[in-house]
Amino acid sequence: MVKIAFSSALAHKALGKEATAAVKDPELASAPTGYERSTGRCLLTLLGIAFILSGLIVGGACLYRYFIPKRVYHGAMQFNDLSAGAEGENQPYYLPQVEEEVEISDNMAVISVPPPRFRPGDPAYILHDFNRKLTAYLDLTLRTCFVIPLNTSVVLPPQDLVDLFSQLMSGSYRSYLVHEDLVVTERIDDIKPLGFYIRRLCDGKETYRMQRRSNLPDGRIQKRAAEDCFTIQHFENMFVTETRICKA
Ligand SMILES: *[C@@H]1O[C@H](CO)[C@@H](O)[C@H](O)[C@H]1NC(C)=O
Repeated sequence: MVKIAFSSALAHKALGKEATAAVKDPELASAPTGYERSTGRCLLTLLGIAFILSGLIVGGACLYRYFIPKRVYHGAMQFNDLSAGAEGENQPYYLPQVEEEVEISDNMAVISVPPPRFRPGDPAYILHDFNRKLTAYLDLTLRTCFVIPLNTSVVLPPQDLVDLFSQLMSGSYRSYLVHEDLVVTERIDDIKPLGFYIRRLCDGKETYRMQRRSNLPDGRIQKRAAEDCFTIQHFENMFVTETRICKA
């Protein structure tokens, strides 16, 4: 509606200009009026086409932003697990390694974690929505989604993630392991408020909200042994994070 009104207003302006020019110029003034009219119509059509084209371009750019994330990176990180046995005496032959594939765009990153070799851990998709400040873990073994506020002190912003993965392309990086302990708090029935990306990821899966265990009241900590837990190893910074998720 706006576009149509705008284009016809412009067309009037263009016609008006031509009309005044015609009055000033005796040669044009003597030209048949049919010619002027067809020029006006031609201009109008051109303007219309220009508006439709610009609409298509803007629309296409929006669709592109939503459906085709910018680039896919692949990276691997080796790590020392300092919590597993004393250092030195229990030195393994090889260091465990986490591999990831990640799609990064301006406002989100989706990390694909394959099942780890020689270590327990679930394959998963991890989505960081930088606009909504949310992180969703889709555990591919359980086919279940877990959502928690984005921890910006752990997850690098998109441009820094691109830099990190660009560095990792030139060989694997040696790092260390950080443990993160999360607890399921409630089931989310309506995933719409979680935004477009998480909705697309978690559509049709059971979805739960989580909290850091350290943020829970003390009473919940005791029940740890009876809990149903699983882990996901991943990195979105210079260190590897082992996320342990427990269904309380
Ligand atoms: C973010 O993660 C770090 C390291 O795991 C932790 O110390 C910090 O409390 C977390 N921040 C929030 C807001 O959860």
